[in-house]
Amino acid sequence: QPTGLAVCPLNDIDEGGIGSTYLEDGTRIAIYRVRGEEVFATDDKCTHGASSLCDEGTLEGHVIECGLHLGSFDVRTGKPVSTPCTKAVRTYAAQVRNGTIWIATE
Ligand code: FES
Repeated sequence: QPTGLAVCPLNDIDEGGIGSTYLEDGTRIAIYRVRGEEVFATDDKCTHGASSLCDEGTLEGHVIECGLHLGSFDVRTGKPVSTPCTKAVRTYAAQVRNGTIWIATE
């Protein structure tokens, strides 16, 4: 069995779309499907404020723009791309195995 957390079938998230899941400790994770099997995962909560990236954000290519103050992050690295975001958002390794999205949780 692969390690990590099975999130959902790949096709539950449209290309360019965002899904989410929860870790055992209740942390919500945003899942980004950029295109095809190219998927990424970050903490759902913006590091600038209390906004949910998956509920309020907009994904453009590899950049997630927060809906509250329009700061943004690169989903590949978690690094801030535009202000007011200055602190990186945590990323999780994500991949597709047999049509299912998995994330590494350690
Ligand atoms: Fe995300 Fe302010 S809460 S940019």
